[in-house]
Amino acid sequence: MKSLSVLVAVATLAAKASAHYVWPQLIVGGSNTSAWQYVRQTNNWQDLNPMLDVTTTDVRCYTSAESGTASTISVAAGSTVGFTVSGNPSNLYHPGVLNVYMAKAPSGTDVASWDGSGTVWFKIYQIPAIADGVTITFPATGLAEIQFTIPSALPSGQYLIRTEHIALHSASSYGGAQFYIACAQHLNCSIIGGTGTPGPLVAFPGAYTVRINIYYPIPTTYIQPGPSVWPASGSGGVSILWVCYIALPHFPPDRSSDLNNCDHDDDESYDDNGEDHHQHDHIELHRH
Ligand SMILES: *[C@@H]1O[C@H](CO)[C@@H](O)[C@H](O)[C@H]1NC(C)=O
Ligand SMILES: *[C@@H]1O[C@H](CO)[C@@H](O)[C@H](O)[C@H]1NC(C)=O
Repeated sequence: MKSLSVLVAVATLAAKASAHYVWPQLIVGGSNTSAWQYVRQTNNWQDLNPMLDVTTTDVRCYTSAESGTASTISVAAGSTVGFTVSGNPSNLYHPGVLNVYMAKAPSGTDVASWDGSGTVWFKIYQIPAIADGVTITFPATGLAEIQFTIPSALPSGQYLIRTEHIALHSASSYGGAQFYIACAQHLNCSIIGGTGTPGPLVAFPGAYTVRINIYYPIPTTYIQPGPSVWPASGSGGVSILWVCYIALPHFPPDRSSDLNNCDHDDDESYDDNGEDHHQHDHIELHRH
């Protein structure tokens, strides 16, 4: 399976902050629905703590310790929905990036009892970082809610919709990135009937590992984790499926093939604590 890795040399450790948050409410038609009405209650609904391990199934919806049930709602393709942020404080407090994914439940499967397994997730919205080599900024920071459009080309079906904010302030060590995740159930998503083919599709876990140091050195570019947004905006047809963001000198010769296929979930040359004692400024992008 292809994985997207974000590997950037590590030079500093960032202090962890205690501000945490969840996504309890679906926004439909501009109105906030009740907390955990249409959003599956996440493991952190009380303690608000982030999910830290991208290799577990909790990276999907973070519901393993809860029943994970919620009501389903009918939403027309092309309409605007969203999620509210609740916590301490109630906004996307940490510097980080945001992604929204959807996945279609298999035919004949009620989305309410579906776990989102398989290579089924496609991205419909993102708020990436902006890096220019001098500064890196995170436009999602401080948002109390997000709203986005369900693509009008979305085919009829039952879908999960998953939002994540990846807080990167502690991400300089493996497992340091904090994932704030929630999944809502949308039923009958396309009353008006779309004819698109969503993609590229990814699986959770498997879609990415994340390691980036946002403080030093300042990344000259920042590649948003995950696949490109569907449907592609702008000029037609060309989509970048996978982008690897790699500190080249870090890779020993016998791992050089990794540079070409991006096909690694982690890099064994990091020690068990995820510390990287080297420092690199040579970053190369690989596109497939
Ligand atoms: C919906 O919730 C968000 C986040 O808590 C809040 O900022 C917003 O004011 C709420 N909207 C309404 C109409 O209550
Ligand atoms: C979904 O839409 C179909 C076709 O309109 C309808 O038969 C079905 O009852 C709907 N399901 C729900 C739960 O609204």
